[in-house]
Amino acid sequence: MGFLSTIFTWIWFQLDLIVHSGFPVFFWVRPKWSIDDIPDQSGKVVLVTGGNSGTGYATALSFYNAGAKVYIACRNEELAKEAIENIKNGGINSLTGFTYPKDQGGKRKNGTVEFIKLDLSDLQSVEECAQEFLKKEDKLDVLFANAGVMASPEGLYTKQGYTLQFGTNVLGHHRLINLLLPLLLSSPPAYPSRVILTSSAGHGGAPKGGVDFKSVIRDASDPIIKDGQQPRQGKNEKMRWVEYGQSKWGDIALAKYLHNTYGRQGRLISVAVHPGMVATNLARHLSLTPYIIKYAPWLAPVITRTPAIGAVNQVWAATIPEYDARWISGEYLVPYQKVGIARPDLQDDKKIEEVWNWCDEQAKKWA
Ligand SMILES: NC(=O)c1ccc[n+]([C@@H]2O[C@H](COP(=O)([O-])OP(=O)(O)OC[C@H]3O[C@@H](n4cnc5c(N)ncnc54)[C@H](OP(=O)(O)O)[C@@H]3O)[C@@H](O)[C@H]2O)c1
Repeated sequence: MGFLSTIFTWIWFQLDLIVHSGFPVFFWVRPKWSIDDIPDQSGKVVLVTGGNSGTGYATALSFYNAGAKVYIACRNEELAKEAIENIKNGGINSLTGFTYPKDQGGKRKNGTVEFIKLDLSDLQSVEECAQEFLKKEDKLDVLFANAGVMASPEGLYTKQGYTLQFGTNVLGHHRLINLLLPLLLSSPPAYPSRVILTSSAGHGGAPKGGVDFKSVIRDASDPIIKDGQQPRQGKNEKMRWVEYGQSKWGDIALAKYLHNTYGRQGRLISVAVHPGMVATNLARHLSLTPYIIKYAPWLAPVITRTPAIGAVNQVWAATIPEYDARWISGEYLVPYQKVGIARPDLQDDKKIEEVWNWCDEQAKKWA
């Protein structure tokens, strides 16, 4: 019976993963809400990692238009400043650049938007970002752990020697969340802060058990990439898609850990989301992307949706009333505004705690 129910759970997970992948072909799976429907956010302070591009940009734009004080935490100051200009002009970003929407008829409230330096692939930079933020603000209503890299070539490492995808998507965000946790937990009990982690349906590709810790640390004999050198897979390193999978499994684990530890006491709301298939710069490491942009741009809307639609789940989770938000804390949302089925091994609270504690141990080595 136990065996049969495990098989059934895995089949159910795979079916849900396909139908709620966010591919436009499943035309009936569409948002019932738009990021333009965001309620007034005046007085709210929001931090969006990777706010200069894709879903992060759309999220920052939405909160700015709703009157919030928005920080975009980015690694590239020039790109961030360009994004800020575009946000102030109401620009919607797309894979091929920015388009300016028609006037929103006085709907916009114009908040503020500021750049804060953050390179998630360097734990030192994460510390500096958190210190800088703590100097500037005495509250944080929503932290979007949105930035990410996908399917980057094997053999690339973070500054402290972790595989690029796990190091950026999980370790960097874990450190940032942890350093901002006292601030997040200091919100009034009636209005707990929210942490929204952008995960992916790709978490289904994680190895057995979710995260193989050995595979995400650079082995001393692995090559260090220098300019002009081709990356080469590290000794213990997983293939790039499996590595992406475990990084996104890790993001859900972080969201669940925060819920188990603080959410159940009502002190924090923590949610992981899959944004759907979205036309963003995330696909930059895929060899087909330049050809699609050049020769078949019509294909983009067939296989992906816009960043504004990709941001629906996270903006929605961050702005629904507290009572409803408490119900989705600890959950994994799929397209659109729906509690989805995370991979069954994410029900293992011990493993989830292990991931958090392992990240903690790594952070201590470099603090
Ligand atoms: N697009 C999809 O179909 C899809 C599907 C599932 C999940 N997701 C998830 O959605 C999230 C957002 O991705 P996106 O699709 O919007 O892609 P995107 O347009 O490439 O945006 C990713 C953002 O992350 C930033 N980033 C990357 N490495 C960083 C680092 N070391 N430090 C700080 N920021 C860094 C990028 O900065 P730069 O501009 O400087 O590179 C960019 O701002 C990711 O977590 C991704 O895994 C996307």
